[in-house]
Amino acid sequence: MPSVLAGKRILLIMGGGIAAYKGLDLVRRLRERGAAVRAILTKAGEAFVTPLSVSSLTGDKVYTDLFSLTDEAEMGHIELSRDADLLVVAPATADLLARMAQGLANDLATTTLLATDKKVLAAPAMNVRMWLHPATQRNVARLRADGVAFVGPNEGEMACGEFGPGRLAEPLEIVAAIEAMLAGPTYLPLPSAEPKVAGLIGAAPLAGKHVLITAGPTHEPIDPVRYIANRSSGKQGYALASAAASAGARVTLVSGPVALRPPAGVRLVSVETARQMLEAVEAALPADIAIFAAAVADWRVADAGSEKIKKGAGGTPSFALVENPDILATVSKAGPGRPGLVVGFAAETSDVLVHAREKLARKGCDLIIANDVSPASGVMGGDRNRVHLVSPGGVETWPDMDKEAVATALIARLATLNPAS
Ligand code: CTP
Repeated sequence: MPSVLAGKRILLIMGGGIAAYKGLDLVRRLRERGAAVRAILTKAGEAFVTPLSVSSLTGDKVYTDLFSLTDEAEMGHIELSRDADLLVVAPATADLLARMAQGLANDLATTTLLATDKKVLAAPAMNVRMWLHPATQRNVARLRADGVAFVGPNEGEMACGEFGPGRLAEPLEIVAAIEAMLAGPTYLPLPSAEPKVAGLIGAAPLAGKHVLITAGPTHEPIDPVRYIANRSSGKQGYALASAAASAGARVTLVSGPVALRPPAGVRLVSVETARQMLEAVEAALPADIAIFAAAVADWRVADAGSEKIKKGAGGTPSFALVENPDILATVSKAGPGRPGLVVGFAAETSDVLVHAREKLARKGCDLIIANDVSPASGVMGGDRNRVHLVSPGGVETWPDMDKEAVATALIARLATLNPAS
């Protein structure tokens, strides 16, 4: 089976330390699996491995100097970090972790780490006392809260003769951690979008919570072979289910007909019609958080026949439509059993915010995620989405992101809002 690393671009930031030689092996392991590796070597790193040895393994030049005009002309520090799928800091020394935690940008490594829009994995390596020092532990806690993932350090005998935690994780352990991170969304939305990804990595902010999600279109039969539907692909709802499961929630995904694989670790209830969706949602309650991402058909044919409608004698058929139950409004108003947080979507083709505010009030939910689904936006059926979070407190507009990034950021946000948490 090909590794998820195949075709991926890893930016490896190598700090100084006796473990830097293992970084060379890491490069080899990553390239064996089909990843392209680009390396930044800190000043301290250069004292342990030479740029030449790193560059002969990466097959690329090694980046060392923030103010090198040639480097900046070829690839500036911004592109360097954005061009990668993942940033890996190995070995991450106590000094490098401290500078990262402070948000310093005093060399190419830290400037790149500060400018990145990708996830960061750090593999610490240092003397056991340095690792256990409260200052380092404080920096690590800060970085974890900022969304940095960690692999290691391992426990064992150290180059300095002491014993304890501080050894760089083995290259294959780091490879496994990289693969796990690449299997999920790797993009971090802009901080201005305030996506608190904190805790999504390595922790489970929704552990013990039940998250109920509707997704996809509904199909409303006209006769046994024809139906009314819409262009919803279900991608946003499925991405939300996957992100909620990664955040540790028990997830029930009530889905209309879609061509997507159910996300791992999610209970899928497949339905066709709006009425079946309502029934499945009610059966799945209680929930702590309910997210209604489905594009439910507003109407159904009043008396869908049990026989295929034939052309001919009766002329062109006409159908009486009746309104479907509003699932979101029903759950939003459901008295004591109401989920602590009810989130709706508003799919609009014009006056997005006006309609969204109106829906928030009409449906009685806590938050509306509004998006423009006019054909020019490419949102319906597409991979990207630009959403506005509309709550009684105001509107927050997020940048254009892929649907997985929207889902990750949204689940992280809901975890912070969850009233029961
Ligand atoms: N929704 C629902 N049940 C329905 C219709 C909509 O649960 N019968 C939910 C959707 O899942 C979404 C929100 O209500 O979270 C808004 O859906 P939308 O289609 O944008 O709005 P409508 O209620 O259909 O209103 P309008 O026709 O005015 O756009």
